[in-house]
Amino acid sequence: MTQLIDKAKLIRVTNKRYRQNFHIITPEGWLNDPNGLCYFQGYYHVFYQFHPYSAEWGPMHWGHVRSKDLVNWEQLPVALVPGDPEDKGGCFSGSAIVKGNRLYLIYTGHHYYDDGNLDHFWENQNVAYSDDGIHFTKYTDNPIISVPKDNTQHFRDPKVWELDGQYYLVIGSQDKEKLGRILMYKSKDLLNWEYLGPIAKSHGQETEGSMWECPDFFRLNGQDVLICSPMGIKPTEKKYLNVSQTGYFVGQLDYKQPKFKRNNFSELDYGHNFYATQTFVDPTGRRILFGWMSPFDEEMLEKPDGWAGSLTIPRELKLDGDHLRMLPLKEYQQLRTKKIYDTNLQLAKRKKLDLPDIQHSELLIESELNTNDQLKWSLLENEEEILSLNYDQKNSELTLYRKGKDSFRYAQIKKTNQLKLHIFIDTSSVEIFVNDGEAVFTERYYTQKKLLTQFSTNGTLNVNVIAFNLKK
Ligand code: FRU
Repeated sequence: MTQLIDKAKLIRVTNKRYRQNFHIITPEGWLNDPNGLCYFQGYYHVFYQFHPYSAEWGPMHWGHVRSKDLVNWEQLPVALVPGDPEDKGGCFSGSAIVKGNRLYLIYTGHHYYDDGNLDHFWENQNVAYSDDGIHFTKYTDNPIISVPKDNTQHFRDPKVWELDGQYYLVIGSQDKEKLGRILMYKSKDLLNWEYLGPIAKSHGQETEGSMWECPDFFRLNGQDVLICSPMGIKPTEKKYLNVSQTGYFVGQLDYKQPKFKRNNFSELDYGHNFYATQTFVDPTGRRILFGWMSPFDEEMLEKPDGWAGSLTIPRELKLDGDHLRMLPLKEYQQLRTKKIYDTNLQLAKRKKLDLPDIQHSELLIESELNTNDQLKWSLLENEEEILSLNYDQKNSELTLYRKGKDSFRYAQIKKTNQLKLHIFIDTSSVEIFVNDGEAVFTERYYTQKKLLTQFSTNGTLNVNVIAFNLKK
């Protein structure tokens, strides 16, 4: 049976003050992880974890948008509604794959024991399919995969791929010692799956996490990459400062055993608002990632307005040695409506700029720094800084500041005297790509006041600044 959405119960958006212009957000209600990324019959499809009846996390549906160009998105009907025996408590995260003329979604069915304890649940994996990319039918023999005996109840977020006519998938898991790990399966038809065992496991709850959510596995530039979102890593002074992180391991998967020989965990983005990513390959072969702009504990000031959450802009992944970089897609240049600034600033101490509609803009900032130079870019509300990024050449360190509690985030980059910032500002988010994606900071921010932008330095510095307004 396929459940229907109750249109009369949908929450309504009551205020548009924080609505994003060029990011994927819900028409109303709550959003978290991107799901089911794929290219099918001429369209890019993005699904997302969705609760249409309130601006809080609740029984998960799959919201759905599609696009011809990865920039302009068309809202489609909800793809998956929970409530069938296989997904009574929610249609949790999962992925998509095209086989013949059919689009398959593989997702987690969530189930509560209904004893009032939300940690008392079980999870299984299910299939739904579509021939038009709009209407989905749940497979009659769901579930297709049940939890293995040596696992706890945490068993979710299948990510599927095809290699040489064989399908594989990885699932986020926790073993009985409460360590995060990744399980691997294979199939010839996407419906019957053989369990191959764990391919990678956390080395310790505090160092690598107690549950690995949202795994993603792919080959890039001659190496294998596992992205996942570990829960429970203990914060250090400057790392792992969000409640959960999304990061990656680089290595080689031996499909025969199968085992993934990998290096250490690295964070993928250093901002406050980045979690639960997913990737896919576009028809030109680019590996493209979307993330959810928040871990779960973030305050979202749009909630009283009847909606919550935003996806990041899509980012192209590049692997340099063991370092995974994220770059904004070139397609986003289509959004530029007007050049609003193009100047080589001779910066002495600070320079404040009043650029039109800075809340919908793209900034390209470049500078050459000497040993003791610092360069800071800020957004100011009246005279007060609400967000800034400071680069200190002495120790190659970036420090991000966001007004409010738990303000600071940090990243280290390779020693260089060239600093390049590529910044996308939307109504309530800022994404900062540093030195061609070597470090990225993803942030939500909230203001209803006019913003100024400011550049400051500890001495004097030449800074080249180009700015565009982006389509409303
Ligand atoms: C990650 C996550 C997934 C789960 C989904 C539920 O943010 O917890 O593990 O499938 O969200 O909405």
